[in-house]
Amino acid sequence: MNKENILNKITLTDIQNHKKSDAPLVCLTSYTAPMTKIIDPHCDIILVGDSLGMVVYGMENTLGVTLDMMINHGKAVMRTAKHAFVVVDMPYGTYENDPAIALESAKRLIGETGGDALKLEVNKALAPTIELLVNNDIPVQAHVGLCPQSVEKEGGYKVKGKTNQEISSLIEDALACEKAGAFSVLIEGTKETASREIAAAVNVPTVGIGASPSCDGQILVVDDMLGMITDHTPKFVKKYAQLADVIDNAVAGYAEDVRERKFPNEKYVY
Ligand code: KIV
Repeated sequence: MNKENILNKITLTDIQNHKKSDAPLVCLTSYTAPMTKIIDPHCDIILVGDSLGMVVYGMENTLGVTLDMMINHGKAVMRTAKHAFVVVDMPYGTYENDPAIALESAKRLIGETGGDALKLEVNKALAPTIELLVNNDIPVQAHVGLCPQSVEKEGGYKVKGKTNQEISSLIEDALACEKAGAFSVLIEGTKETASREIAAAVNVPTVGIGASPSCDGQILVVDDMLGMITDHTPKFVKKYAQLADVIDNAVAGYAEDVRERKFPNEKYVY
C-alpha cells in the first residue's frame, strides 16, 4: 500500500466500484480511537459493530446495545479514521418496528458520529425502511443471513442457507435490499454455496463473515482475529496474533517488577 492510498479517504463510489474489481474489500470492526488508528491504513471499511456489546462491555449478546453506546463508539472511531469508509451498526430496537423511528435513530447516528453509512440487520420485510433511509441520503449496508440481533427469536446462532428454500429466501432478501438502495450486502454465517449464490445474484458488493471467498470483501471482528478473545472462537475466525497471551505476559512481568520493587527504578521517576 502506498502513502497516497493511505491518505485518500475511501468514498461510497470506491466501495460500489469493488463489484467490478478483482481486489477484495478488506474490512474489520473497531470500537475505539487507538485501534482505529492502527487498522485504518490497512482497511477499506471499518465497521463500528454492535458486537461491541460482547467485545467491549462483556454482554452475552448484542441485544442490550443502545443508540448512545453506538454514538459514543462511532465518534471515537471517527476521530482517528482518516482512510477507511466507516459503517456504524444500528442497534437492536432502534429500527425494526417502525420506519419513522428508524429514520429518527439513523439521523442521530449519522449526524452525531459523522459516520459514512449505517448497517441494519434485515430481510425483505425491512426493504421499505432501507428505502426511506436511502431517500434521506443515508447510505445503508444490508446485513443478511445469520443476524445476531435475532438470537433470542431464533433460539441461538444458527448457520443459514442449509436448504434450497432457505437459499431462495436469502437471495430474495438480498435482491430486495439492493432494489431498496442498499449500497452493499453483508452476509454472515451462511453456507458457502448459499453465500456464493447470493454474491452472484446481486450487483452491489458483498462482504462476507463466515460466508464465502466469492464475496467482494471479507470482515472479521478485530479482537477475534488478534486473539484477544479467550473463550469461544467461531469456525470462521482465523487468528493472526495471540494478543491475549502477549498481554498476559506483559502484565505478569509488570506485577512481578512492582512486587519486587524493581519498578519504578531511577529511569522512570522525576
Ligand atoms: O457487529 C458486528 O461486529 C458485525 C460483524 C460480525 C459483521 O455485525
